[in-house]
Amino acid sequence: MFKQDTENTVHLNKTLGPFDLTMLGVGAVVGGGIFILPGEVASIVAGPGIMLSFIIAGIACCLAALCYSEFASKLPVAGSAYTYSYHVFGEGIAWILGWSLLLEYGLAVAAIASGWSSYVKSLLEGFNLHIPAAISGSYNPANGTYFDIPAFLIVVVIGILLSLGIRESTRVNNLMVLIKIAVVVLFIVVGAFYVKPDNWTPFLPFGFNGVITGASMVFFAYIGFDAVSTASEEVKNPQRNMPIGIIASLAVCTLLYILLSAVLTGVISYDKLVGVSAPVAFALQYLNLNWIAGLLSLGAIVGMTTVILVMSYGGTRLIFAMGRDGLLPKTFAKVNKKNTPVKNTLIFAFLMGLVAGIVPLADLAALINIGTLFAFSMVSLGILFLRRNKDIPDSGFKTPLYPFIPILSFVLCVYLMLNLSKVTWLSFAIWFVVGLCVYFLYGRKHSELRKTDL
Ligand code: ALA
Repeated sequence: MFKQDTENTVHLNKTLGPFDLTMLGVGAVVGGGIFILPGEVASIVAGPGIMLSFIIAGIACCLAALCYSEFASKLPVAGSAYTYSYHVFGEGIAWILGWSLLLEYGLAVAAIASGWSSYVKSLLEGFNLHIPAAISGSYNPANGTYFDIPAFLIVVVIGILLSLGIRESTRVNNLMVLIKIAVVVLFIVVGAFYVKPDNWTPFLPFGFNGVITGASMVFFAYIGFDAVSTASEEVKNPQRNMPIGIIASLAVCTLLYILLSAVLTGVISYDKLVGVSAPVAFALQYLNLNWIAGLLSLGAIVGMTTVILVMSYGGTRLIFAMGRDGLLPKTFAKVNKKNTPVKNTLIFAFLMGLVAGIVPLADLAALINIGTLFAFSMVSLGILFLRRNKDIPDSGFKTPLYPFIPILSFVLCVYLMLNLSKVTWLSFAIWFVVGLCVYFLYGRKHSELRKTDL
């Protein structure tokens, strides 16, 4: 039912339960990161110690997840960290956070689409099918590639699927998530029989610093669980179900990642993974298990498809919330009869499809990490303000060991941010300044909050 509280407040339908939410979370998390990054991180940064990198990044995410759960349970409205900070910090900080999250969701969609395209191309090449070079890769005239058509198309097709409605999209998502979990488990179970413990020594060939740098890189593989919280407004009994969805999806992923990296570095020595962009399939080929390697590539494609789906979903709900508050044009908050923000979804898909078609994956990943870590650190800090805000009900999920966990989460996120490169910081600063310009030239003048305050 279409429901309007006031002239300007549109709400979305409540259809999602804890299983759907966990599936959404795993759908957003397990994707390009785990299928691409372990090769580079194990071979040149962390060695078999990559297991520890996954544990450290997992701990940072778990702490942030507890804080997210408290917010999602107390403020079950669309928009995730953006909406939370709107309530605890006010509009200016909320805008900055929303702007950073646009970087996370938007660029993650584009980055994974470009990884998806590489896997699809190599699968098609296996069947001797070739896409013309000019339209097979991101803009790089020296290589003869100008636009990545498969990457553009997957983002647009998913945008169309999302515009059909969230119920329909979660059905497709649940099926794809089960497939990708199955292939990861298949690798772990089959690989376990081939593990040679000798491959785990030396365990820390690059020292503990390598493990920490590895953690700030593999952090990418965990990004996405927070997208679950953007669904708050469409969840039945969010006080109970949001924390279950966020924490369960993160727990499943952390366990799978640690086991996968242990098996990977156990079956093949880390120094054989230099320059390998599909390490998991590579390890299976190394063991002469080619048919399982083929299955795994298919699973990776499915896995990345769900990441694109959930990240696109998160991005459109964020833009919806920012449009509803007047910080972006109101047209982004318009919904159809089924209460789906169709226009916003299609515009988002088209623009991100263009970015995916033009910009290569490697240039995007670190920027996504910094935008996300910034959002996590603000959400962690926000818990301290949330608890003091007497207008927000004290019921629902509470972050345990308050204030220790929110503070530790904040410190850990900032520490991981400091491990990212100067170029990444500079790009983030530029994005930040552009965001401030948009806010002062548009958002401030059109803000609903300000109108009610005046
Ligand atoms: N966690 C997501 C992935 O690894 C972004 O694909």
